[in-house]
Amino acid sequence: MSSSQASSFTKEPAVVYPQERFHISQPASPGSYLGPIDASLPGADKPPLLFQPFKVKDLTLANRVIVAPMCMYSSQDGFMNAFHMAHLGSFAIHGAGLILTEASAVQARGRISPQDAGIWSDDHIHKMKEIAEMVHAQGSKIGVQLAHAGRKASSQAPYSQPPPTEYWPDDVVSASGGEAFKWSDHYVAPRELSVEEIKETVRAFGEAAVRAAKAGMDTVEIHGAHGYLLHNFLSPVSNHRTDAYGGSLENRARFLLEVIKEVRSQFPAEKPIFLRVSATDWVEKVIDGPSWEIEQTVQVAKWAKEAGVDVIHVSSGGNVAQQQITAFPGYQVPFAERVKKEVPGLHVVAVGILTGGKQAEQVLEHEQADLIAVARGFLREPSFVLSAARELNVKAKLSQQYERGRRDK
Ligand SMILES: Cc1cc2nc3c(=O)[nH]c(=O)nc-3n(C[C@H](O)[C@H](O)[C@H](O)COP(=O)(O)O)c2cc1C
Repeated sequence: MSSSQASSFTKEPAVVYPQERFHISQPASPGSYLGPIDASLPGADKPPLLFQPFKVKDLTLANRVIVAPMCMYSSQDGFMNAFHMAHLGSFAIHGAGLILTEASAVQARGRISPQDAGIWSDDHIHKMKEIAEMVHAQGSKIGVQLAHAGRKASSQAPYSQPPPTEYWPDDVVSASGGEAFKWSDHYVAPRELSVEEIKETVRAFGEAAVRAAKAGMDTVEIHGAHGYLLHNFLSPVSNHRTDAYGGSLENRARFLLEVIKEVRSQFPAEKPIFLRVSATDWVEKVIDGPSWEIEQTVQVAKWAKEAGVDVIHVSSGGNVAQQQITAFPGYQVPFAERVKKEVPGLHVVAVGILTGGKQAEQVLEHEQADLIAVARGFLREPSFVLSAARELNVKAKLSQQYERGRRDK
């Protein structure tokens, strides 16, 4: 599979019905604050922080809850389709403040599996634009996560068995190459990205940002976490290079910072940029020698802010198979808090087993983060935001088409 695959997709003649673009107007975004459910309860005189609007650059969210990016492994050749419209659209109908799409590959070889979404071709814009229009028509906001899977690419798609020809085992790339740098025995050995290919990949992120803007996306999130390509470069466990992209922290962060600057220069200035990072490799206790950890994350967050990142989304892990993670509700919040305290002016998203309104509200009250992201909670319950609202005594706006659901008769 060539990373430059772009224009050979099969096209059917387009039939355009303008009526398909009709949308009901929404007097307020679903999930926005309408008042307390019970005005006699303590604290009912003001909206909880979770239901106060959030503004960064020209992007205003109706509430502070974000749908975290979630790979659905439901695409062919990178295209989003009717499934993604229903999946992402449902979160908009049910009041999510911002929806981040799943990791969308900026190069074909940057997909985790053959079934990943992609944004490496202009042909991918069309469906993304339809989805963005639907989300906007509800009053919600949407951003696309720009990704390159690095050494975790060309791996098994979980719900389908594409033929071997759909994989690209000889073109899996990372900071350092060879058997020693396989993510695990179930993954292929990557080859080291050349400097020329690094520059190409930087440009691919920029071109993807242009496509995201053409699709009407409100933001883009650069995926620098979870052991994918940019994280492969950041971590001394996966990066043993001896050139300008390896060694010191400054060198290991060079690729990421070049990507950020390129995306910033290509994406409309009034729209914010998110960056997702892993705050630690979680291997201090199992690997001798340096690994990726929170001190470096804080330093890179400072550089990322200078390079143009507006919001940092603090996750963890995913880069080393031996990682030892003890996950519990809010387990990643201390990392978000640390970045928030040490990098003033950078907005911070907390994520990771944030299970309900009260817990999320506490994170905001304690100034550990500015925004809350939830992944599995939205799969269990697409109306996560509306449940969180009830928990916090908030009467939240429903989608106009769903307002009737309030009435018994
Ligand atoms: C089905 C699924 C797919 C995921 N795909 C992505 C992805 O595409 N990009 C990403 O950055 N994180 C991905 N994640 C991680 C989530 O965004 C999130 O950080 C993680 O699930 C922790 O949040 P939660 O406890 O609310 O689920 C995925 C998680 C799940 C459950």
